[in-house]
Amino acid sequence: MQVAVYPGSFDPCTNGHLDIITRASHMFEKVVVAVLINEKKHPVFTLEERVEMLKIATKHIENVEVVSFSGLLADFMRKNGYSVIVKGLRAVSDFEYEFQMALTNSALYDKIETVFIPSSAEFMFLSSSIVKEVAKYNGDLDALVPEELVAGIKRRFGY
Ligand code: PNS
Repeated sequence: MQVAVYPGSFDPCTNGHLDIITRASHMFEKVVVAVLINEKKHPVFTLEERVEMLKIATKHIENVEVVSFSGLLADFMRKNGYSVIVKGLRAVSDFEYEFQMALTNSALYDKIETVFIPSSAEFMFLSSSIVKEVAKYNGDLDALVPEELVAGIKRRFGY
C-alpha cells in the first residue's frame, strides 16, 4: 500500500492544510497526518487538541489517519515502514526551509522521498500563524479554518 505521511505542527489546522490532505488522499492509498513537535514554535493548542482538531476536520476522508509523534520524523518513518513524506509549498519563501528538511530527512533515513504539493492559489497566503494573529484580534475565521473548528478556536482566544 502506498502511504504518504503529512507531517506538521498544525497549531491549528487550516483550510490550507485540509486542501493538501484532501489532494494527497486522492494520490495515495492512505495519508497519515503526523502531528509533531517543532522545537522552534510554542504551540497554543496541546498535542492532544491538535490531533483532535485534525480528526474532526478529516473525518469525511476515509483514507486519512491522524497520529502524533515526539521525536525525529525520520525515526517515525523508519519505525512504521513509511517512505513518502508529503509537504505543501506555498511560495518560494517556503522552499529553502522545506528543501533543507527534505535533505535532512533523507540523510537520516535514505528510503525517504519528499513529495511537494503546490498550495492551491486560494490558500497561498494562509498559515497557522495568520489564523492565530486574526484570532488574537477576534477576527472572522470562517474563510481560514475548517468550519467545525471555528467555535473551538474562538473559545481558546476568548471571543
Ligand atoms: O508545520 P511545521 O511547524 O512547519 O512542521 C515542521 C515539522 C513538525 C514537520 C518539523 O519541525 C519536524 O519534522 N519536526 C520533528 C523533528 C525533526 O525530525 N526535525 C527535522 C530534522 S532536524
